[in-house]
Amino acid sequence: MLLLTGATGLVGSTVLGRLLAQGEQVRCLVRDPRRLGSQRVRVQIALGDLTDPPSFRNALRGVHTVVHLAAAIRDQPRGSIEELNGIATWRMVEAAERRGVERFVFFSALGASNHHRTRLLRAKAHAEKAVRESSLRTIVFAPSIVYAPGDPWLTLMERLAWLPVMPVTGRGRAEFQPIWAEDVADCVIAGLSRTPTEQHTRYELAGPDTLTHSEIVTTALRAWSRNRPLAHIPTPLVSRGLRLLALAMGTRTPATWDEAELLEVSMKSARGAADVRGLGVTPQPMEVVLGATA
Ligand SMILES: NC(=O)c1ccc[n+]([C@@H]2O[C@H](COP(=O)([O-])OP(=O)(O)OC[C@H]3O[C@@H](n4cnc5c(N)ncnc54)[C@H](OP(=O)(O)O)[C@@H]3O)[C@@H](O)[C@H]2O)c1
Repeated sequence: MLLLTGATGLVGSTVLGRLLAQGEQVRCLVRDPRRLGSQRVRVQIALGDLTDPPSFRNALRGVHTVVHLAAAIRDQPRGSIEELNGIATWRMVEAAERRGVERFVFFSALGASNHHRTRLLRAKAHAEKAVRESSLRTIVFAPSIVYAPGDPWLTLMERLAWLPVMPVTGRGRAEFQPIWAEDVADCVIAGLSRTPTEQHTRYELAGPDTLTHSEIVTTALRAWSRNRPLAHIPTPLVSRGLRLLALAMGTRTPATWDEAELLEVSMKSARGAADVRGLGVTPQPMEVVLGATA
């Protein structure tokens, strides 16, 4: 039995489809099974929450491999970014060790470090350390920005593209190597199928092109045939504006400063797409996936 967390998310839903197609028995730790859509009848469901460690214990019964994708880029009523990404991963690793799990797959992020400017990438660094120091066989995937047409990030961008000018947080100079969620899922399946030579393996998942945030926005605008000038909003204004919006709208806010700040810090691998290609996956350029090539 394989335990998948985050199966309702961007990466998790694509990974789940592939696991089921190859006949894997999958249990999904989910907050709301309805969000699994039609897949929910093909998996075992373990109701759980990153903020509820006892739910991990039940979910891990009889499990040989954990693929831990559940994460949060904004605070939730029951847990902060630090709890949901850092502490929850540490607790999940501990519970997996106690339950005799053999292998633990974790999604970190490129650039994660203890001293990172963003809360998420500091929490991911702590989580990665817990995974690396565990007694389990582990695989860490550290992706750059992951996207798919119609995902929440591109959908928000598409809505903003109805404005006469396209707002971009800060100077838009942070660099990314965007990778398509389908390519990421192929990497996970390839990583799982390999016999590891080391106890701990780490892959950096980067797409084939390095694009600044502004270039990503321009690529998306081209795909949607919306010719808009970019309007760079100074970082302090974005930060204050989004904090006020979150105060006014609570959890219904369309964007938080913690999310926007992630677009102001580069997420690049010095190895480029070498790890992805090493896994036998040819990553697609963003302009091809979005249909912005014309
Ligand atoms: N997307 C990127 O650009 C990117 C970049 C670097 C690293 N990563 C990492 O890659 C992994 C997958 O990312 P993704 O883009 O697929 O994430 P996503 O689409 O935001 O999905 C997050 C998943 O986590 C689940 N989740 C959130 N809070 C939870 C909680 N309190 N308890 C249980 N489950 C909870 C969500 O379930 P619900 O359906 O219940 O909300 C959802 O299935 C994550 O670890 C992420 O940090 C992503």
